[in-house]
Amino acid sequence: MLAMVAFSLQAHAMQDVASDVFGSIPGKGQVERYTLTSEQGMEVAIMTYGAAIVALRVPDRTGQVDDVVLGFDTLEGYLGDNPYFGSVVGRYGNRIAGGTFKLDGETYVLARNNGANHLHGGVVGFDKVIWDASPVADDRGPSVQFSYVSQDGEEGYPGTLAVTVTYTLAAGNELIVDYEATTTHATPVNLTQHAYFNLGGEGSGDILDHELSLNASHYTPVDSTLIPNGEVAAVVGTPFDFKTRPARIGARISDEHPQLTIGGGYDHNFVLDSGEDSLALAARAYHPASGRTLEVYTTEPGVQLYTGNFLDALPGKGSHVYGRHAGFCLETQHFPDSPNQPDFPSTILRPGERYQSRTVFAFGTAAM
Ligand code: GLA
Repeated sequence: MLAMVAFSLQAHAMQDVASDVFGSIPGKGQVERYTLTSEQGMEVAIMTYGAAIVALRVPDRTGQVDDVVLGFDTLEGYLGDNPYFGSVVGRYGNRIAGGTFKLDGETYVLARNNGANHLHGGVVGFDKVIWDASPVADDRGPSVQFSYVSQDGEEGYPGTLAVTVTYTLAAGNELIVDYEATTTHATPVNLTQHAYFNLGGEGSGDILDHELSLNASHYTPVDSTLIPNGEVAAVVGTPFDFKTRPARIGARISDEHPQLTIGGGYDHNFVLDSGEDSLALAARAYHPASGRTLEVYTTEPGVQLYTGNFLDALPGKGSHVYGRHAGFCLETQHFPDSPNQPDFPSTILRPGERYQSRTVFAFGTAAM
Protein backbone atom coordinates (compact mmCIF):
# COMPACT_ATOMS: atom_id res chain seq x y z
CA MET A 1 0.00 0.00 0.00
CA LEU A 2 2.72 2.43 1.02
CA ALA A 3 4.69 1.50 -2.06
CA MET A 4 1.67 2.25 -4.25
CA VAL A 5 1.25 5.69 -2.75
CA ALA A 6 4.90 6.45 -3.38
CA PHE A 7 4.57 5.20 -6.95
CA SER A 8 1.58 7.36 -7.79
CA LEU A 9 3.25 10.45 -6.32
CA GLN A 10 6.30 9.84 -8.46
CA ALA A 11 4.28 9.12 -11.57
CA HIS A 12 2.38 12.33 -11.00
CA ALA A 13 5.57 14.35 -10.71
CA MET A 14 6.99 12.98 -13.93
CA GLN A 15 3.86 13.86 -15.87
CA ASP A 16 4.56 17.51 -15.16
CA VAL A 17 7.77 17.43 -17.21
CA ALA A 18 7.45 18.14 -20.93
CA SER A 19 10.29 18.23 -23.41
CA ASP A 20 10.81 19.58 -26.90
CA VAL A 21 13.67 20.43 -29.23
CA PHE A 22 14.98 23.95 -28.62
CA GLY A 23 17.43 23.93 -31.52
CA SER A 24 20.62 22.32 -32.70
CA ILE A 25 24.27 23.23 -32.92
CA PRO A 26 26.08 22.23 -36.11
CA GLY A 27 28.60 19.51 -35.27
CA LYS A 28 27.47 19.25 -31.66
CA GLY A 29 23.91 18.03 -31.86
CA GLN A 30 20.42 18.71 -30.74
CA VAL A 31 19.50 20.86 -27.75
CA GLU A 32 16.42 19.86 -25.78
CA ARG A 33 14.27 21.98 -23.52
CA TYR A 34 12.54 20.54 -20.45
CA THR A 35 9.58 22.37 -19.00
CA LEU A 36 8.50 21.75 -15.40
CA THR A 37 5.15 23.01 -14.17
CA SER A 38 3.76 23.25 -10.66
CA GLU A 39 0.18 23.21 -9.46
CA GLN A 40 0.68 26.71 -8.02
CA GLY A 41 1.17 28.21 -11.46
CA MET A 42 4.94 28.29 -11.71
CA GLU A 43 6.79 27.04 -14.78
CA VAL A 44 10.49 26.66 -15.42
CA ALA A 45 12.15 25.72 -18.69
CA ILE A 46 15.73 24.45 -18.80
CA MET A 47 17.71 23.53 -21.90
CA THR A 48 20.52 21.04 -22.30
CA TYR A 49 22.95 23.70 -23.60
CA GLY A 50 24.61 24.95 -20.43
CA ALA A 51 21.85 23.27 -18.36
CA ALA A 52 20.51 26.81 -18.55
CA ILE A 53 17.20 28.14 -17.27
CA VAL A 54 15.60 29.75 -20.33
CA ALA A 55 12.28 30.77 -18.76
CA LEU A 56 10.86 31.00 -15.27
CA ARG A 57 7.25 32.08 -15.02
CA VAL A 58 5.76 33.02 -11.66
CA PRO A 59 2.58 34.85 -10.64
CA ASP A 60 2.57 38.37 -9.21
CA ARG A 61 0.32 39.48 -6.35
CA THR A 62 -2.68 39.72 -8.69
CA GLY A 63 -2.01 36.30 -10.22
CA GLN A 64 -0.48 37.62 -13.44
CA VAL A 65 2.26 35.31 -14.62
CA ASP A 66 5.47 36.77 -16.10
CA ASP A 67 8.84 35.41 -17.09
CA VAL A 68 11.29 36.76 -14.48
CA VAL A 69 14.61 35.70 -16.03
CA LEU A 70 16.57 37.41 -18.80
CA GLY A 71 17.39 35.35 -21.87
CA PHE A 72 16.74 34.84 -25.55
CA ASP A 73 13.87 33.37 -27.56
CA THR A 74 16.05 31.04 -29.59
CA LEU A 75 19.13 28.89 -29.14
CA GLU A 76 21.00 31.16 -31.58
CA GLY A 77 20.70 33.97 -29.03
CA TYR A 78 22.38 31.85 -26.39
CA LEU A 79 25.20 30.94 -28.80
CA GLY A 80 25.94 34.61 -29.53
CA ASP A 81 26.77 37.46 -27.15
CA ASN A 82 25.51 35.82 -23.97
CA PRO A 83 26.61 36.84 -20.47
CA TYR A 84 25.83 33.41 -18.96
CA PHE A 85 22.04 33.97 -19.01
CA GLY A 86 20.55 31.24 -16.79
CA SER A 87 23.57 28.96 -17.20
CA VAL A 88 25.16 26.50 -14.87
CA VAL A 89 28.68 27.80 -14.38
CA GLY A 90 31.68 25.52 -13.84
CA ARG A 91 34.09 23.91 -13.32
CA TYR A 92 34.82 27.00 -11.23
CA GLY A 93 32.34 29.86 -10.90
CA ASN A 94 33.88 33.36 -10.90
CA ARG A 95 37.57 34.20 -11.17
CA ILE A 96 40.88 32.50 -10.52
CA ALA A 97 43.75 35.01 -10.43
CA GLY A 98 46.18 34.81 -13.33
CA GLY A 99 44.38 31.65 -14.45
CA THR A 100 46.72 29.58 -12.32
CA PHE A 101 46.89 27.78 -8.98
CA LYS A 102 49.04 25.29 -7.11
CA LEU A 103 47.64 22.05 -5.79
CA ASP A 104 49.59 19.26 -4.07
CA GLY A 105 52.84 20.81 -5.31
CA GLU A 106 51.78 21.00 -8.99
CA THR A 107 51.15 24.25 -10.81
CA TYR A 108 48.12 24.26 -13.10
CA VAL A 109 47.50 26.76 -15.86
CA LEU A 110 43.90 27.38 -16.86
CA ALA A 111 42.35 29.15 -19.82
CA ARG A 112 42.65 32.93 -19.39
CA ASN A 113 39.43 34.36 -20.71
CA ASN A 114 38.99 37.53 -18.62
CA GLY A 115 42.08 39.68 -19.10
CA ALA A 116 44.82 37.80 -17.28
CA ASN A 117 42.28 35.89 -15.17
CA HIS A 118 40.23 32.74 -15.56
CA LEU A 119 36.44 33.36 -15.40
CA HIS A 120 33.50 30.97 -15.04
CA GLY A 121 35.32 27.82 -16.12
CA GLY A 122 37.20 29.20 -19.13
CA VAL A 123 36.67 29.53 -22.87
CA VAL A 124 34.31 26.56 -23.06
CA GLY A 125 32.91 26.30 -19.56
CA PHE A 126 29.96 24.20 -18.44
CA ASP A 127 27.68 26.94 -19.81
CA LYS A 128 28.85 26.17 -23.37
CA VAL A 129 28.47 22.39 -23.54
CA ILE A 130 25.46 20.19 -24.21
CA TRP A 131 24.47 18.23 -21.12
CA ASP A 132 22.60 14.91 -21.03
CA ALA A 133 19.21 15.16 -19.38
CA SER A 134 16.43 12.94 -18.17
CA PRO A 135 13.39 13.39 -15.95
CA VAL A 136 13.77 11.70 -12.57
CA ALA A 137 11.15 10.54 -10.11
CA ASP A 138 11.04 12.80 -7.10
CA ASP A 139 8.13 12.98 -4.70
CA ARG A 140 8.77 16.70 -4.09
CA GLY A 141 7.65 17.53 -7.65
CA PRO A 142 8.70 17.46 -11.30
CA SER A 143 12.44 16.96 -11.59
CA VAL A 144 15.07 16.76 -14.35
CA GLN A 145 18.65 15.68 -13.94
CA PHE A 146 21.38 17.10 -16.17
CA SER A 147 24.75 15.39 -16.37
CA TYR A 148 28.10 16.20 -17.91
CA VAL A 149 31.53 14.62 -17.80
CA SER A 150 34.33 17.17 -17.91
CA GLN A 151 37.50 15.53 -19.23
CA ASP A 152 40.86 15.53 -17.48
CA GLY A 153 42.71 18.63 -18.71
CA GLU A 154 39.59 20.45 -19.94
CA GLU A 155 40.29 24.20 -19.76
CA GLY A 156 43.44 23.23 -17.82
CA TYR A 157 41.76 21.52 -14.87
CA PRO A 158 43.08 18.26 -13.43
CA GLY A 159 40.92 15.15 -13.24
CA THR A 160 37.86 13.83 -15.01
CA LEU A 161 34.89 15.37 -13.25
CA ALA A 162 31.45 13.76 -13.44
CA VAL A 163 28.80 16.36 -12.65
CA THR A 164 25.04 16.24 -12.16
CA VAL A 165 22.74 19.19 -11.67
CA THR A 166 19.14 18.37 -10.76
CA TYR A 167 16.36 20.91 -11.00
CA THR A 168 13.21 20.12 -9.00
CA LEU A 169 10.09 22.23 -8.84
CA ALA A 170 8.67 21.71 -5.36
CA ALA A 171 5.47 22.81 -3.66
CA GLY A 172 5.44 26.45 -2.63
CA ASN A 173 6.93 27.57 -5.95
CA GLU A 174 10.42 26.49 -4.99
CA LEU A 175 13.04 25.68 -7.58
CA ILE A 176 15.58 23.37 -5.94
CA VAL A 177 18.97 23.06 -7.61
CA ASP A 178 21.11 20.11 -6.46
CA TYR A 179 24.71 19.84 -7.60
CA GLU A 180 26.89 16.74 -7.26
CA ALA A 181 30.31 15.85 -8.59
CA THR A 182 33.06 13.28 -8.28
CA THR A 183 36.59 13.41 -9.65
CA THR A 184 39.47 11.12 -10.61
CA HIS A 185 42.11 13.64 -9.44
CA ALA A 186 42.12 16.49 -6.93
CA THR A 187 40.59 19.59 -8.54
CA PRO A 188 38.90 22.85 -7.60
CA VAL A 189 35.11 22.75 -8.08
CA ASN A 190 32.69 25.63 -7.59
CA LEU A 191 29.34 25.30 -9.36
CA THR A 192 26.66 27.93 -9.53
CA GLN A 193 23.56 29.12 -11.36
CA HIS A 194 23.84 32.38 -13.28
CA ALA A 195 20.17 33.35 -13.76
CA TYR A 196 19.53 37.08 -14.13
CA PHE A 197 16.32 37.95 -12.31
CA ASN A 198 13.95 40.82 -12.79
CA LEU A 199 10.90 40.24 -10.60
CA GLY A 200 8.99 42.86 -12.57
CA GLY A 201 9.32 40.58 -15.60
CA GLU A 202 12.31 40.36 -17.94
CA GLY A 203 12.59 43.44 -20.10
CA SER A 204 10.49 45.58 -17.76
CA GLY A 205 13.33 47.99 -16.99
CA ASP A 206 16.11 47.99 -14.44
CA ILE A 207 16.19 46.17 -11.10
CA LEU A 208 17.27 49.15 -9.00
CA ASP A 209 13.81 49.30 -7.38
CA HIS A 210 14.05 45.78 -5.93
CA GLU A 211 14.46 45.69 -2.17
CA LEU A 212 17.22 43.35 -1.11
CA SER A 213 18.39 41.81 2.10
CA LEU A 214 21.43 39.58 2.41
CA ASN A 215 22.36 37.43 5.37
CA ALA A 216 25.94 38.64 5.23
CA SER A 217 27.88 40.73 7.72
CA HIS A 218 31.02 40.55 5.56
CA TYR A 219 32.09 40.60 1.94
CA THR A 220 35.31 40.02 0.06
CA PRO A 221 36.60 43.28 -1.51
CA VAL A 222 38.36 42.99 -4.86
CA ASP A 223 41.27 44.49 -6.78
CA SER A 224 40.83 46.32 -10.08
CA THR A 225 40.52 43.00 -11.95
CA LEU A 226 37.76 41.76 -9.60
CA ILE A 227 40.02 39.29 -7.76
CA PRO A 228 39.50 39.26 -3.97
CA ASN A 229 42.31 41.17 -2.27
CA GLY A 230 42.30 38.70 0.62
CA GLU A 231 40.36 40.89 3.05
CA VAL A 232 37.10 39.82 4.65
CA ALA A 233 35.56 43.23 5.32
CA ALA A 234 32.61 44.15 7.52
CA VAL A 235 29.66 45.56 5.57
CA VAL A 236 28.34 47.73 8.39
CA GLY A 237 28.47 51.42 7.56
CA THR A 238 29.04 50.75 3.84
CA PRO A 239 26.78 50.44 0.76
CA PHE A 240 27.35 46.67 1.09
CA ASP A 241 25.22 46.44 4.22
CA PHE A 242 22.07 44.59 3.15
CA LYS A 243 22.04 42.80 6.49
CA THR A 244 21.28 45.47 9.08
CA ARG A 245 20.00 47.88 6.40
CA PRO A 246 18.01 46.04 3.72
CA ALA A 247 17.57 48.54 0.90
CA ARG A 248 16.63 49.06 -2.70
CA ILE A 249 19.44 47.75 -4.90
CA GLY A 250 19.70 51.23 -6.38
CA ALA A 251 19.68 53.14 -3.11
CA ARG A 252 23.46 53.21 -2.67
CA ILE A 253 24.75 51.74 -5.94
CA SER A 254 26.07 55.14 -7.09
CA ASP A 255 27.65 56.04 -3.74
CA GLU A 256 31.26 57.05 -3.87
CA HIS A 257 32.85 53.86 -2.69
CA PRO A 258 36.01 52.49 -4.30
CA GLN A 259 34.55 48.98 -4.45
CA LEU A 260 31.45 50.17 -6.32
CA THR A 261 33.66 52.06 -8.74
CA ILE A 262 35.74 48.95 -9.47
CA GLY A 263 32.64 46.82 -10.02
CA GLY A 264 30.59 49.44 -11.88
CA GLY A 265 27.96 48.55 -9.27
CA TYR A 266 27.70 45.42 -7.15
CA ASP A 267 29.81 42.53 -8.40
CA HIS A 268 30.97 41.10 -5.10
CA ASN A 269 31.04 37.95 -3.05
CA PHE A 270 29.14 38.23 0.22
CA VAL A 271 30.22 35.97 3.08
CA LEU A 272 27.08 34.36 4.43
CA ASP A 273 26.64 34.41 8.21
CA SER A 274 25.19 30.88 7.99
CA GLY A 275 28.59 29.45 7.01
CA GLU A 276 28.97 26.22 5.10
CA ASP A 277 26.88 23.09 4.65
CA SER A 278 23.49 23.69 6.26
CA LEU A 279 20.74 25.02 4.00
CA ALA A 280 20.04 28.57 5.18
CA LEU A 281 18.49 31.78 3.93
CA ALA A 282 21.06 33.82 2.01
CA ALA A 283 19.03 36.52 0.30
CA ARG A 284 15.58 37.95 -0.09
CA ALA A 285 14.46 40.25 -2.89
CA TYR A 286 11.13 42.03 -3.12
CA HIS A 287 9.72 43.92 -6.07
CA PRO A 288 7.19 46.39 -4.66
CA ALA A 289 5.23 47.06 -7.86
CA SER A 290 4.46 43.41 -8.70
CA GLY A 291 4.64 42.10 -5.14
CA ARG A 292 6.91 39.23 -6.23
CA THR A 293 9.45 37.96 -3.74
CA LEU A 294 12.45 35.70 -4.19
CA GLU A 295 14.18 33.97 -1.32
CA VAL A 296 17.45 32.18 -1.94
CA TYR A 297 18.54 29.41 0.40
CA THR A 298 21.89 27.70 0.02
CA THR A 299 24.41 25.34 1.55
CA GLU A 300 27.20 27.47 0.04
CA PRO A 301 29.24 29.88 2.19
CA GLY A 302 28.97 32.81 -0.25
CA VAL A 303 26.79 34.58 -2.78
CA GLN A 304 27.89 36.84 -5.63
CA LEU A 305 25.58 39.79 -5.98
CA TYR A 306 26.00 40.94 -9.59
CA THR A 307 23.76 43.79 -10.70
CA GLY A 308 24.13 43.34 -14.46
CA ASN A 309 26.71 46.11 -14.66
CA PHE A 310 28.11 44.93 -17.98
CA LEU A 311 24.74 44.64 -19.75
CA ASP A 312 24.60 47.11 -22.61
CA ALA A 313 21.78 47.27 -25.16
CA LEU A 314 21.61 43.50 -25.54
CA PRO A 315 18.59 42.33 -27.58
CA GLY A 316 16.81 39.67 -25.53
CA LYS A 317 13.43 37.95 -25.43
CA GLY A 318 10.60 39.42 -27.47
CA SER A 319 11.57 42.89 -28.57
CA HIS A 320 13.21 43.63 -25.23
CA VAL A 321 16.61 45.24 -25.07
CA TYR A 322 18.54 44.64 -21.87
CA GLY A 323 20.48 47.66 -20.64
CA ARG A 324 22.68 48.15 -17.60
CA HIS A 325 21.07 46.70 -14.44
CA ALA A 326 18.26 44.97 -16.40
CA GLY A 327 18.72 41.95 -14.14
CA PHE A 328 20.50 40.86 -10.98
CA CYS A 329 22.22 37.58 -10.16
CA LEU A 330 22.55 35.87 -6.82
CA GLU A 331 25.23 33.31 -7.60
CA THR A 332 25.57 31.02 -4.60
CA GLN A 333 29.16 29.87 -4.42
CA HIS A 334 32.45 29.35 -2.66
CA PHE A 335 34.52 32.50 -2.76
CA PRO A 336 36.25 33.67 -5.95
CA ASP A 337 39.92 32.72 -6.29
CA SER A 338 39.76 30.25 -3.38
CA PRO A 339 42.44 27.99 -4.92
CA ASN A 340 44.90 30.88 -4.33
CA GLN A 341 43.51 32.06 -0.99
CA PRO A 342 44.44 29.68 1.83
CA ASP A 343 42.17 31.49 4.32
CA PHE A 344 39.01 30.96 2.24
CA PRO A 345 36.95 27.76 2.64
CA SER A 346 38.47 25.06 0.46
CA THR A 347 37.08 24.30 -3.00
CA ILE A 348 39.22 21.21 -3.56
CA LEU A 349 37.44 17.97 -4.36
CA ARG A 350 39.46 14.76 -4.04
CA PRO A 351 38.95 11.28 -5.47
CA GLY A 352 36.60 9.29 -3.23
CA GLU A 353 34.80 12.45 -2.07
CA ARG A 354 31.46 13.71 -3.34
CA TYR A 355 30.82 17.40 -4.04
CA GLN A 356 27.30 18.24 -2.89
CA SER A 357 25.65 21.61 -2.93
CA ARG A 358 22.07 22.80 -2.86
CA THR A 359 20.42 26.12 -3.63
CA VAL A 360 16.69 26.84 -3.45
CA PHE A 361 15.02 29.73 -5.28
CA ALA A 362 11.68 30.21 -3.52
CA PHE A 363 9.16 32.54 -5.17
CA GLY A 364 6.19 34.18 -3.52
CA THR A 365 4.26 37.41 -3.27
CA ALA A 366 3.75 39.99 -0.58
CA ALA A 367 0.83 42.36 -0.10
CA MET A 368 1.27 46.10 -0.69
C1 GLA B 1 29.81 37.26 -12.70
C2 GLA B 1 31.04 38.08 -12.55
C3 GLA B 1 30.87 39.35 -13.31
C4 GLA B 1 30.56 39.07 -14.75
C5 GLA B 1 29.35 38.21 -14.85
C6 GLA B 1 29.07 37.80 -16.27
O1 GLA B 1 28.78 37.75 -11.98
O2 GLA B 1 31.38 38.34 -11.22
O3 GLA B 1 32.02 40.14 -13.19
O4 GLA B 1 31.65 38.42 -15.34
O5 GLA B 1 29.50 37.06 -14.06
O6 GLA B 1 29.02 38.87 -17.14
